[in-house]
Amino acid sequence: MASQQLPEFPFAREHGYNPSPLNAKLRHEDPVSKVKLYDGSQAWIITKHEDCCEILDSSKLSADRRSHGYPEIHPGGHKAKHAKPTFINLDDPDHDKQRRMLESEFTPETVNKKWRPIMEHTVDIILDKFIQKGRDQQPIDFMEEFANIVPPQVIYKVLGAPEKDVERLSKDSELRNTTARDAAESANKELNDYMKDLVKQKIQQPRDDVISKLVVEQYKSGNLSEGDITTLAFLVLTAGNAALINSIGLGTLTLMQHPSQLVQFKKNPSMAAQIVNEITRYHTISALNSRRAATENMDIRGKQVKKGEGVICSVQAGNRDEDKFSDPETFDIRRHFDKEDSLGFGYGPHRCQGEAISRVELEIVFTKLFQKLPSLRLAKSPMNFIPPGAKHLKGSTLFTSKSLRPP
Ligand code: HEM
Repeated sequence: MASQQLPEFPFAREHGYNPSPLNAKLRHEDPVSKVKLYDGSQAWIITKHEDCCEILDSSKLSADRRSHGYPEIHPGGHKAKHAKPTFINLDDPDHDKQRRMLESEFTPETVNKKWRPIMEHTVDIILDKFIQKGRDQQPIDFMEEFANIVPPQVIYKVLGAPEKDVERLSKDSELRNTTARDAAESANKELNDYMKDLVKQKIQQPRDDVISKLVVEQYKSGNLSEGDITTLAFLVLTAGNAALINSIGLGTLTLMQHPSQLVQFKKNPSMAAQIVNEITRYHTISALNSRRAATENMDIRGKQVKKGEGVICSVQAGNRDEDKFSDPETFDIRRHFDKEDSLGFGYGPHRCQGEAISRVELEIVFTKLFQKLPSLRLAKSPMNFIPPGAKHLKGSTLFTSKSLRPP
């Protein structure tokens, strides 16, 4: 097909927060097809769940954006090729070596033991302030006063930033808009300087946090330099904020749009884990990350993908694949499926390292929100939401709400 006839990727959402109908159309009609990127180049797009898993698990594709054909979706990505990559953009064995340095801090066991109490405390404080501000019955901006604040505060604490800095730092708007794969290009100066100083402090006086762990285990043995630790800390800091913020916003909105399911959740807060699983499937907040470059010729569903061609796994389309999930367009918190099957956190060796902490954070948020504020309601129709921002983010940034208020 001629380049000008190909659909442009990222696909625009039709109604602000619904995935583009092109996902389903391609999945039904041509599940391994081509799209045009912003710079006129082309890439393969994969829309079946099974194929996304196969590709994201395959060693025949590279996550390194310096690899020939890696599909960039905006100019910043090309610039980021010149930065020293972190493991999200490295292939094994280098990817695995770096990822392991952080692994023990993000296992479900560590998350529950070490980070859960910190997250519960953080959510309590922010939520209590939100309730306080909403006392006068005026609509209150849920995103500004709650959703935008929780994830950055949590991740700064996990990294080991002192309590006194956390509130100020978490107001940084770039931090709120950066997605996992864009972390390297978003290193704004102020944040970078702060992170450099924090690493220096931890070298002098390590404590029990993520940066200190890197210092004690990797810096002192000469495996990582001060600069390497700063870069890794920056990845952890930026990788999940936008996705978590949007998950809180969209998750809350979606629950409120399904009142009978919400009633069920209010009665059974133990459903939180299941609800988070369904939100990660239904919305696939991080929809643009899973991009690769083929390093060998390969056959996908009878199509010949050549070495050096870009491949985009549309995990958002895969998460609504009727061959994997029954009635996939329906949001249903009673749906039971294996956590691994939700492509919301990716798949394979690059599957999100922050998955466990993100799931628990979202469980805490939704549980506390609807237990403390059972009559929270929308102040206006969500159809009035205007997805903000840059054209290049049109597939991933969902909405900013001035529209949720407590009773
Ligand atoms: C709802 C929240 C989140 C979502 C939806 C999400 C989504 C993703 C996805 C889809 C990937 C795979 C990228 C790829 O295969 O190309 C990924 C990777 C990654 N995420 Fe997350 N993420 C979230 C939160 C977080 C948090 C809070 C952290 C930090 C603690 C984090 C750290 C990472 C890292 C380090 C990687 C790279 C893993 C690797 O390459 O081995 N993420 N994330």
